[in-house]
Amino acid sequence: MNTRVLTGITTSGTPHLGNYVGAIRPAIQASQQHDVDAFFFLADYHALIKCEDPDRIARSRLEIAATWLASGLDPERVTFYRQSDVPEIPELSWMLTCVTAKGLMNRAHAYKASVDQNLAKGVEEDDGINMGLFSYPILMAADILMFNAHKVPVGRDQTQHLEMARDIAQRFNHLYGKGRDYFVLPEVVIAEDVATLPGLDGRKMSKSYNNTVPLFEGGFKALKSAVAKIVTDSLGPGEPKDADASHLYLIYKAFAQPAESNAFRDELIAGLGWGDAKQRLCDRIEQEMGPLRANYEALMAHPDRIEEILQEGARKARAIATPFIRELRDAVGLRTLSASLKSATGKSAKSSSKVARYVSFRDEDGQFRFRLMSADGIELFCSVPFADPKQAGAVMRDLQQQQAASVARTVGDTGFEIVLEGRKVADGVESESEAMRDQKMEQLTLAMRHESNA
Ligand code: TRP
Repeated sequence: MNTRVLTGITTSGTPHLGNYVGAIRPAIQASQQHDVDAFFFLADYHALIKCEDPDRIARSRLEIAATWLASGLDPERVTFYRQSDVPEIPELSWMLTCVTAKGLMNRAHAYKASVDQNLAKGVEEDDGINMGLFSYPILMAADILMFNAHKVPVGRDQTQHLEMARDIAQRFNHLYGKGRDYFVLPEVVIAEDVATLPGLDGRKMSKSYNNTVPLFEGGFKALKSAVAKIVTDSLGPGEPKDADASHLYLIYKAFAQPAESNAFRDELIAGLGWGDAKQRLCDRIEQEMGPLRANYEALMAHPDRIEEILQEGARKARAIATPFIRELRDAVGLRTLSASLKSATGKSAKSSSKVARYVSFRDEDGQFRFRLMSADGIELFCSVPFADPKQAGAVMRDLQQQQAASVARTVGDTGFEIVLEGRKVADGVESESEAMRDQKMEQLTLAMRHESNA
């Protein structure tokens, strides 16, 4: 199974050069590795915690989506979606809320920092703190656990949140797992070799310091006027500069090849004036960013295209989230009433599905198919025909091993179908009523789980 890498971007600001170098560029590069399944999403529910300006939220989602796409994110490869388009995430967040100790949240750095600020100001300790901020780590855990991500690349300030996600996952597994771990314990990935850009004033480039160089917004003009504001010392042209201490050089290095950077460094040491140095820096950044900005502007002119890409991303995400949340609901006891009755009478869906099995056959046209039969010998679904038996076998194996994202989704009121990686591979047997169909789908989820464990 490929490594699942997942990360979220809070949509409360406009992307700057520091975001590009520190997060966007490395994440997109990592997503191009062949053994990685990447999940990148816009954490717009998280944005609501800090920002109560609806227009700003709306604008930021658009700008951030356009920025990632313009920078080379391939939505065919990466599952790229908005958190708020996947209702299973807040649903899971509630299930996790109910297994999370309040004391764990009391210890969260972000919450504690706000409390400390209040105490320093002499006001009540929870003054101005909403429950969103308090529960922030639980929603983040739901983001990660919903997709059973193995690796989560984030900034160092997020390390504690990952520890909490592991804690919460473990607690859920322990309470409800009965020998099965529903959740993978995610690992934090802190990029050590990624440049941290200095901002205009030399401190780390960050929205909260108001010292950023805009990435695309405002065009080349905005880039130029920001670079003009980067602080330098007061040495004149002809005087040797301390290149290694220069913010201009540090930023240059993040964009240029080593040989070019060395040449720039030598020139600074030889006395290149700061005005000329800023010009070179602008030109070098523009060489990389100019073409991407053209992509950005083309995308920003067609928000409907971006919307479509995100909707498709949500479909892919939900193909995983929907069947998984069904299992989780079952795990905590949110079952259809008829299923509850069954387990109360001892004939549980679980035990009856233990020996569910796949049966391959050749149909009347000589094509190859397979069926999944429940333990009671009832057909649950039948595959589409395959010309090649190997192909039929491969699809069956994928379903058995759950190597690939598979999902049962409803068709009309009484039918359902099985979709594997976006392709329909089987039709469910029609039921007499919607309720019976839903019950059958629940049985199917359990059958497939046990089959795969067999
Ligand atoms: N909290 C993260 C940040 O501020 C954003 C985020 C939300 C996130 N959910 C996530 C990151 C899940 C990784 C995984 O950077």
